[in-house]
Amino acid sequence: MPEPRPSPTGHYFSANPEVASNPSTVVLTLPDARFELTTDRGVFSSTKVDPGTRVLLLEAPPPPSGKVTLVDVGCGYGPIALTLARRSPEATIWAVDVNERALELCAENARRAGFADRIRTCTPNEVPADLTVDGIWSNPPIRIGKPALQDLLATWLDRLSIDGTATLVVHKHLGADSLARWLQTRGHAVNRIASRAGYRVLAVSGAVAPTTPTSPAATQHPPEAS
Ligand SMILES: C[S@@+](CC[C@H](N)C(=O)[O-])C[C@H]1O[C@@H](n2cnc3c(N)ncnc32)[C@H](O)[C@@H]1O
Repeated sequence: MPEPRPSPTGHYFSANPEVASNPSTVVLTLPDARFELTTDRGVFSSTKVDPGTRVLLLEAPPPPSGKVTLVDVGCGYGPIALTLARRSPEATIWAVDVNERALELCAENARRAGFADRIRTCTPNEVPADLTVDGIWSNPPIRIGKPALQDLLATWLDRLSIDGTATLVVHKHLGADSLARWLQTRGHAVNRIASRAGYRVLAVSGAVAPTTPTSPAATQHPPEAS
């Protein structure tokens, strides 16, 4: 199943989930990393690592190396942020989420994995206004709705360095292809770098092509995400 539906007791993207806390542990096993992650009710994919997240982490190219700045947009309890920290040992990783419970879990998981000094957890409002990033990684919150999702991605793509890449995973049944077309209307080059179990992994360029009246970037009404 693609992205879990919101529970009857609230959305996984609530700032403060109403559902009572009941922490548990999930294991993320990858060829190059293994993390035991504390999770909880009221956060995304609390009972197992999301299959889309696994596809992203299995299929995406390694993050840039050196003293780079990366962001995990919608970090949840941290599987992507921690993997980035492992794969790019000098990187600073911003782990951003609206869900305070998820942020606490991500910070705790980062601390236990030894990444407390390099993973910075925060809400979108706490992101420094002048932050620029060398790479974006995200299993984005499709269920916040198309306008909010487009705003979110536009905000972060505007922070991406011109030679940076945003690596996104989206299920085809949750609008991966129409999202790719919308990104192209903004002038980004979009490559589908993997397609597995219904999930698309998209590499989106930070560079934006100049627009012309007939190019996709000039489209006034981007296609509806399906
Ligand atoms: C599909 S989940 C992915 C969570 C985590 N990265 C994982 O792979 O398990 C998307 C996350 O985005 C968060 N989110 C929703 N709106 C957001 C926003 N405006 N800014 C940042 N994160 C947001 C949700 O709370 C949720 O944790």
